[in-house]
Amino acid sequence: MPEMHADLFSAAYLVATIFFIFGLKGLASPKTALRGNLFAMVGMALAIATTLLNPEVRNYNWIIGGILAGAAIGITLALRIQMTAMPELVAALHSFVGMSAVLVALGEALRHSSSEISGVMATELALGSAIGAITFTGSIVAFGKLRGSFGSNPFTFPGQHFVNLILGVVIIALTVKYAMQPELMPILLLTGISFVLGVLLVIPIGGADMPVVVSMLNSYSGWAASATGFTLHNNLLIATGALVGSSGAILSYIMCKAMNRSIVSVILGGFGGDAATAQTKTTKKPVKSAAAEDAAYLMDNASKVIVVPGYGMAVAQAQHALKEMYEVLEKKGIELKFAIHPVAGRMPGHMNVLLAESDIPYDAVQELEEINGEFSTTDVVLVVGANDVVNPAAKTDKTSPLYGMPILDAYRSRQVYVLKRSMGAGYSGVDNDLFYYENCSLIFGDAKATCTAIVNALKNA
Ligand code: TAP
Repeated sequence: MPEMHADLFSAAYLVATIFFIFGLKGLASPKTALRGNLFAMVGMALAIATTLLNPEVRNYNWIIGGILAGAAIGITLALRIQMTAMPELVAALHSFVGMSAVLVALGEALRHSSSEISGVMATELALGSAIGAITFTGSIVAFGKLRGSFGSNPFTFPGQHFVNLILGVVIIALTVKYAMQPELMPILLLTGISFVLGVLLVIPIGGADMPVVVSMLNSYSGWAASATGFTLHNNLLIATGALVGSSGAILSYIMCKAMNRSIVSVILGGFGGDAATAQTKTTKKPVKSAAAEDAAYLMDNASKVIVVPGYGMAVAQAQHALKEMYEVLEKKGIELKFAIHPVAGRMPGHMNVLLAESDIPYDAVQELEEINGEFSTTDVVLVVGANDVVNPAAKTDKTSPLYGMPILDAYRSRQVYVLKRSMGAGYSGVDNDLFYYENCSLIFGDAKATCTAIVNALKNA
């Protein structure tokens, strides 16, 4: 590429990277998320246009074919995907990034003779392929777990951490061997072993801990893309991959803090909690059930109500009925707040997105640390399709897979109503102690129907 052109392309890539940074900044809050997405889209359009205009691109046929096929699949998925299936889609997309890193690295390894591959380039190829392979199979397992195909229980075996450690050491040894002597065998071997390691790192993760793994795989997919950037000498890919990698790592750290887990044990696979095996306990203890009208009656006489939304709210799409509930209570001078647990739902920010979609004011929505002290002064808590995030066993039962995770202290309020369809467990697969508390009643049925019934009863009260 002539020097003038090279400068122009670098400048365009730099501008695209700046758009991505503003995009990420915008995504930090629901208020600015739309603007953040727009910035990111402009950055991506600029990045694609710049790449296509590169004089090194000699044949557009494969590129156009790839764009058309990818766009067709992407548009179909985006139109058909249910909001509740977003997390598994994200996991599937991470696996694509991982696989493309593997294919690019192996393609370059095959394309060049060993004398053309320098030690630095060989290290880049080996690392790109290894990280990509771990991301690929790890994400496939995460996809299966989130979809429920493999069940959400952890799969552990004796010496699991030791096996992971050995595989990690072998991958490093093969990387060194490949860097010294870039023959095909070491890179093929290390890629194969990395595929196995990806599976082993994710299978021991129990249901309730999956959010941390999803954000970790997000980070890995960024590093895989960055490694591909080194392989292709593409600065934009290096920078964008690093942005995704580091923001994913920060998210993983936040998630670990939220779940009270150690980030080191997440990276090593499993949380060191071999005892924390989830079991769906079917209990015969009696629970109290109530009707929507009972909840409406107490809410109508309350001064403060808190709603704890969870995955069931997403399934039922109850957020619009909750917005109506907010408006009705506001008119009556009754305070209604929404308490968000960092891992409620199935993806980071899941509940915030749904509540924002129904135009519930942001200042009525509060995070765990902000609101947890308020439950003891709350008259009524409505748990709308949440389960694990309000389970007091996380505080009291050392054998529970939830043990150690901070919960929303709904049980401290005067009266709790839990809206759910059955006695079924939450994602972690364990029974919820809260259901048997003196101050807790269950309102069985679809959350949207129950919320609508409560709103109607409140209107008529
Ligand atoms: P869960 O513990 O999964 O409980 C969801 C509850 O919703 C269930 O009790 C279910 O009971 C009920 N439900 C489902 N559909 C319903 C409907 N149509 N109407 C009424 N209720 C319905 O949810 P949570 O409290 O939000 O906790 C999230 C869990 O997912 C945590 O264990 C978390 O670690 C895990 N997880 C989170 C993420 C992220 S990043 N947020 C990612 C992966 C996993 P019924 O079936 O009886 O109705």
